[in-house]
Amino acid sequence: MTKWIEKIESAQTPSQIEEIRIAIFGKKGELTAAFAQMKDAPNEDKPRIAKELNDHKARLNALLNEKKVSLETEALKEAMKAEGIDASLYSPRSQRGATHPVMDTMDRVIEYFTNLNFSVETGPMVEDDFHNFEALNLPKYHPARDMQDTFYFKDEKLLRTHTSPVQIRTMMKTKPPIRMIAPGSVFRRDYDITHTPMFHQVEGLLVDEKGKVSFANLKFILEGFLHHMFGDVEVRFRPSFFPFTEPSAEVDISCIFCAGEGCRVCSKTGWLEVLGCGIVDPNVFDAVGYKDVSGYAFGLGIERFAMLIHQIPDLRSLFEGDIRLLEQFR
Ligand code: DAH
Repeated sequence: MTKWIEKIESAQTPSQIEEIRIAIFGKKGELTAAFAQMKDAPNEDKPRIAKELNDHKARLNALLNEKKVSLETEALKEAMKAEGIDASLYSPRSQRGATHPVMDTMDRVIEYFTNLNFSVETGPMVEDDFHNFEALNLPKYHPARDMQDTFYFKDEKLLRTHTSPVQIRTMMKTKPPIRMIAPGSVFRRDYDITHTPMFHQVEGLLVDEKGKVSFANLKFILEGFLHHMFGDVEVRFRPSFFPFTEPSAEVDISCIFCAGEGCRVCSKTGWLEVLGCGIVDPNVFDAVGYKDVSGYAFGLGIERFAMLIHQIPDLRSLFEGDIRLLEQFR
């Protein structure tokens, strides 16, 4: 009995415990044999021997089970220690994420205007003719509708072709004065190295009492903005046309690749066109029921800015989801 107790106590592994169990209780086990021999004992001794053997059986069984559990717990602890992860260990190869260049550029635009107290407004991507065209002084027959190739749905709805409809929605739900930008995705039937069917724009609108808003105000704001985005560049305003503004202008910066010398990117002109703007056309204010107000508006494409800032040659690469592009912006 003591021999077995010692053996159990000195066992090192659960499988050794099983070996001992077999040596005691197995077919050829010691205790099994002792039980078998009982039949040869004198009858009057049998109850005593049986009790003794049963006591041994119970004691040894309990010890075996106890030891087995403790060895198994021990083994599990060891395994966990070996496989565990030390989250505090420094790994020089750890991978940091990156902000997509389009979103990064968007954030920089929003940052500039929210610092000047412009609010950030949003509107639906599935628009109607009124907000996307009509109210922006683009009536049905107007040739300027051809400037944008539109995705139409069956039920007169369309995917907005610019973020300008958010101007209309914001004016219709609030009273002047207004100072807002509207960042968001827009959609056009276009696909080549500088166009994708989905891209991003930021629209800007400022409205105040009649006579309070001038082209000089617009110029001042946009010059500050373009310096924020491109650093020390020259800015020029060129007369242009948009249905929703009058007068309208397109804004150029001196080419950031050749500093105005003339190169491939600026088509040898020394200038890069970056946005459209103007004084809000009175027809737009009429459409939303605004009276005795004046305002300016502007609109720009985020991808165009991102391409210039990061020198990305093919716009489509921004939407291919190739990790090798994103890795360059960590
Ligand atoms: N909506 C124009 C476009 O998508 C951009 C634009 C130009 C917006 C001039 C304006 C603006 O508000 O005044 O091309």
